[in-house]
Amino acid sequence: MKTLFSGVQPSGIPTIGNYIGAYQQFAEMQESYDAYFCIVDQHAITVPQDRLKLRDYTIKLAAIYLASGLNPEKVTLFIQSEVPAHARAAWLMQCIGYIGELERMTQYKDKARKQATKDGISVGLLTYPSLMAADILIYGADVVPVGDDQSQHLELTRDLAERFNNKYNDILTVPEAKLPEFGGRIMSLNDPSKKMSKSDDNPKSYISLLDDPKAAAKKIRSAVTDSGSEIKYDKEEKPGISNLLVIYSSLSGMSIEELEEKYKDSNYGTFKSELGEVVADFLTGFQERVNYFIDSGELDSILDAGAERASIKANRMVDKMENAIGLGRSRRRK
Ligand code: TYM
Repeated sequence: MKTLFSGVQPSGIPTIGNYIGAYQQFAEMQESYDAYFCIVDQHAITVPQDRLKLRDYTIKLAAIYLASGLNPEKVTLFIQSEVPAHARAAWLMQCIGYIGELERMTQYKDKARKQATKDGISVGLLTYPSLMAADILIYGADVVPVGDDQSQHLELTRDLAERFNNKYNDILTVPEAKLPEFGGRIMSLNDPSKKMSKSDDNPKSYISLLDDPKAAAKKIRSAVTDSGSEIKYDKEEKPGISNLLVIYSSLSGMSIEELEEKYKDSNYGTFKSELGEVVADFLTGFQERVNYFIDSGELDSILDAGAERASIKANRMVDKMENAIGLGRSRRRK
């Protein structure tokens, strides 16, 4: 069976963009793979975090993974900092990567620009992709389901894996990114030229998975739309409506063509208000499941078991990597 790995940062409550770009795929793919899903808290601290909020988001993220349909009996769900193999392997990846290639990452450039005006840019922000490569490579992942914004990091992961294999020993699997057919880049509600992001300063630009459903419907009703009045998918000419159509289609299961047909005689107002109801219904059901898992008292044992399973697999690979590089004494590896 092939291996799958993916991660989400607990740097805020995930948005419906994260849901459509990532979680929805996770649930669909879990049956066909030996699947590892990680709450990447070490990635979150590459920019400043409030410690209490970080803990809170970490637990909520675990519940959100499960509410999205992951079966904890089937998949391995765990917290990155509870599996020290990630940090060990990240160091190896930092020593095999080049500063120039890290500086070229667009996510680094965007975040560095923001951080430069605040607290300064941490070293971790630059070496973030080394940790991400480590996350993926220590499980021997074949497939990594992510949204579009992570493609560049995946390319770098592939380069680092190939470099390692050529330089030391051919032990790392070169992973493939799996982007959703569409919905890989849900855009901001008030500026459809920007990606929807959980760390955006304006909460009207995104819908968080734990937003009050009525307030979320209101955000949809006030989303920026385009000139004209036709409800038609056209990313260039109608980026606002196209984004809303993708959200509608992903949450309802109706195709874009079916939606265009359904709304061919309607105006933006009707369309947005009906999409608002779809989003509110989705959030109501989703939040019931999140609350169920938070109240269930099962999260700790799921995460403990996950960290244990993940450690066994990851330690084996990091031992092999260190051995291939010549670290430590030569000894029999398990
Ligand atoms: P993060 O936490 O920013 O986002 C989690 C996942 O959601 C996707 N995503 C989106 N998809 C569609 N539309 C959007 N507007 C949108 N915003 C985010 C992301 O592409 C991602 O799949 N670096 C990663 C976390 C990570 C990781 C990994 C992922 C760390 N290690 C190893 C995969 C494998 C990140 O910041 O995701």
